[in-house]
Amino acid sequence: MSDKARLERHGRIAVIFIENPPVNAMSVGVPGALIACLDQAQADDEIDAIVLTGGNKGLIGGADINMLGKPWPEGEPTLHMLIDALDACKKPVVAALQAHTLGGGYEIALGCHYRLIHPAGQVGLPEVNLGIPPGAGGTQRLPRLIGLEKAAEVIVGGKPAKAAKAFDMGMVDRIAAEGDLLEQAIAFAQDVAGKGAATPISARSVTLPSDGFFDDLRASWAKKAKGLRAPMACIDCLEASLLPFPEGYAESRRIFLDCAGSEEAAALRHMFFAERTAAKIDGIDNKQSTRPVSTVGVIGAGTMGSGIAIAMLDSGYSVILMERNKDALDAGCARIDKNYAGQVAKGRMTEDAKAKRIGALTAVTDIEAMADADLVVEAVFEDLGVKQAIFADLARVTKPGAILATNTSYIDVNKIAEAAGERVSDVLGMHFFSPANIMKLLEIVRADKAAPDALLTAMSVGRKMGKTAVVAGICDGFIGNRIYNVYRREAIFLLEEGASPSQVDKAMTDFGMALGPFAVMDLAGLDIAWAQRKATAHLRDPNKRYCTLPDRLCELGRFGQKTSRGFYIYEEGNRKPIPDPEVEALAAETAAEAGITRRTITDEEIVQRCLFALVNEACAILDEGIAQRESDIDVVFCNGYGFPRRRGGPMFWAGRVGFDKVLSQVKQYSQTHDFWDPSPALVRLANN
Ligand code: 3HC
Repeated sequence: MSDKARLERHGRIAVIFIENPPVNAMSVGVPGALIACLDQAQADDEIDAIVLTGGNKGLIGGADINMLGKPWPEGEPTLHMLIDALDACKKPVVAALQAHTLGGGYEIALGCHYRLIHPAGQVGLPEVNLGIPPGAGGTQRLPRLIGLEKAAEVIVGGKPAKAAKAFDMGMVDRIAAEGDLLEQAIAFAQDVAGKGAATPISARSVTLPSDGFFDDLRASWAKKAKGLRAPMACIDCLEASLLPFPEGYAESRRIFLDCAGSEEAAALRHMFFAERTAAKIDGIDNKQSTRPVSTVGVIGAGTMGSGIAIAMLDSGYSVILMERNKDALDAGCARIDKNYAGQVAKGRMTEDAKAKRIGALTAVTDIEAMADADLVVEAVFEDLGVKQAIFADLARVTKPGAILATNTSYIDVNKIAEAAGERVSDVLGMHFFSPANIMKLLEIVRADKAAPDALLTAMSVGRKMGKTAVVAGICDGFIGNRIYNVYRREAIFLLEEGASPSQVDKAMTDFGMALGPFAVMDLAGLDIAWAQRKATAHLRDPNKRYCTLPDRLCELGRFGQKTSRGFYIYEEGNRKPIPDPEVEALAAETAAEAGITRRTITDEEIVQRCLFALVNEACAILDEGIAQRESDIDVVFCNGYGFPRRRGGPMFWAGRVGFDKVLSQVKQYSQTHDFWDPSPALVRLANN
């Protein structure tokens, strides 16, 4: 028998284990091995019923994502054959669902006669997140099991359901008690053994909830889909479930194959693997153990500090929040309380849960209290001297092995680490993005002397927080802000050359960016970058182009949304940007002073200038080793800067455009524009 599946007899019950670590994906060889076990159990008169379960950790991760969009080896049994065999099985089959059972894994469960889930289990059809509808009958069987409305929620939404919800929705038949799932699944199988095989789901019918159901469903997803095709393809497949099963199944398969070969699906698959690869740190053994973390200290109770505290509390950590000034500390605590109160008011959290989180928070004004912390995140304002003083104190008061992290956005983490003296190897950067309790991206900044297990611990804390953590080397702005600054610079130059903020923003949002660069600047506040420019003015090359427009806006007190004016005007209580002729006039003025003749700029040039500059800078930081790999840059931009996932991040996108084309355009710009020298990595990628 194959090592991908195993049959065990428990009296008159056959238990079939899927054995394809790490997640029991349905890779080549697995369906065949399972079919062989199923045939064996069916042929055996001593077997009355069958239990199917994930082997190692109980996961059934679905189809092998590596194989999507690729041809399946000729003659090799497929996932469809396996599900057909389950569907046709004359002996009852109970799917025992532990941990996650997703995609093709849950489609297998839908081919079984009964589904028993562990209380900590989750089931779902998340294929839409990979740019495809479920392709092994899920779109046809689930509506037959739970009705079209709920099936649409599961399939188009793509969010897995925890056991209790799955049971409420009818996605599973029973929730097991805590304890051994297999024992209970065997008991379940014994219960149903005498009753013959239940009617397979495929033999049931589907009812249309209302005449306009699909029109309404499409209309409700038209905006939410954000240019993605897969949600609409899921709806098409669901509509096909109204046909007789074989026809609906064939139609859903056709749509699935069409989507699997699309650019959107290729980009989303790339993101799936890129996010998992980002968790791996080059040059160290990623399997070594991490340090235990249960209490986290946060220094600084401003917007960032309190956001980090919320994110930590939400992830089950106890938090010690410190701020030297009592009023500032109280304000931070009030901010945290207000956040939770808002969630309670919206019905997203119970009063009990709120009380638990607040109960896990200790507010202090004395740094000595950090003695109890396993990890401290410093989030005070950007001043090297202040940060160094804090790290010198932390080195003195924290217990040995506690990790000391700075949330700096720009300051050299090595210089902060030096202040920790002998504790230098415990120091690293944890760069959160605002609001820290919402944004998924976390840059783990690798200080030169940071210990490998300290880095791995920071990564694992990030993972526990539900963040997508990426390792960054040290430079001004690390990965994200450094590259974004170049993108922003080009947007401002375009404004000076003749485009308007709204034209640039529209060109970029039409491309798929969540927000245009000027809307982002107004949202973040123009004053912060202004302060930075003033502080680093002495480092600027006077021979290189510099647009004074953002400085002039700040001199006029136009700091963006917070002052109701920035690159746009904002009306009271409304974040909708309104174009402002005064800004256009200022742009014309700065252009005239710089000797630039303004002209009509096409949307195509806007997208190219902004994104090719971004890609060229991304290549430069690959050269410098600031980012470990190309795909990490994609992860940063899709999770922290609103780059469209459906395009797979800037590096994946550039690869699709063709690095040779990007290079040739970069070379062309470099002849007439400052800052466009092609980076060696871009040349290398173009030559490859
Ligand atoms: N195919 C191939 N590899 C997979 C995989 C899959 N379906 N699911 C996970 N992996 C790989 C990961 O890339 C990772 O590899 P690495 O160690 O080399 O980086 C490894 O398995 C472990 O994955 P995670 O780090 O994500 O493990 P977790 O324990 O954190 O999470 C999980 C497990 C919840 C199952 C998560 O991996 C997951 O969400 N997987 C994808 C589920 C999914 O989308 N399934 C649908 C697949 S498409 C499909 O089924 C089509 C069908 O309708 C025909």
